[in-house]
Amino acid sequence: MRTIDEQGYHFEEWLTPEQIRADVQQVADRISADYKGKEPLFVVVLNGAFVFAADLIRALKNVRCEITFIRVSSYWGMSSKGQLEFIVPLQQVVDQRDVVIVEDIVDTGLTIHQLKAHFRALGATSTRVASMLFKPNKLEYEDSKPDYVGHEITDEFVIGYGLDFDGFVRNLDAIYKVKE
Ligand code: IMP
Repeated sequence: MRTIDEQGYHFEEWLTPEQIRADVQQVADRISADYKGKEPLFVVVLNGAFVFAADLIRALKNVRCEITFIRVSSYWGMSSKGQLEFIVPLQQVVDQRDVVIVEDIVDTGLTIHQLKAHFRALGATSTRVASMLFKPNKLEYEDSKPDYVGHEITDEFVIGYGLDFDGFVRNLDAIYKVKE
């Protein structure tokens, strides 16, 4: 098993690149079935979701779609800040669009809760969520439960495949769990 030491913490490989590929394909197949004949707008939440999004959109089958990006900040290091700030605002019109928000991980659900409200206020027809990871035990906002999940996880802190630790290690090809 591969391990990484980052900023004094020890991490062990949890999802291998092969497992991630299977998870992404499963999510892509469900989205392809649900959005058949529609033209969804994927809104990728930067920075973390860019790796998942790049794999996800290429795994879709026969879905005519557009992709745009948004960057918000609600998290720093290992504890949630609880405040959402728009760093890169939405560049695309979401009015009358079927929006699929693409996230790396849903934790408390604050980010998704606020983004859904934002897109609804802007006139989106529907707002669903695809997240590579989901921490159901941590969820505080019921409307933020992702519609499409790659893998569920308990409360551990994870890094890699887009997920950072204070800005670093997003480029790891696997997802690693912190070991206490
Ligand atoms: P939420 O708003 O509490 O759902 O937090 C979502 C954001 O927190 C994600 O987009 C990540 O940036 C960050 N986050 C939550 N858990 C982790 C983790 O285990 N590793 C890295 N980032 C995390």
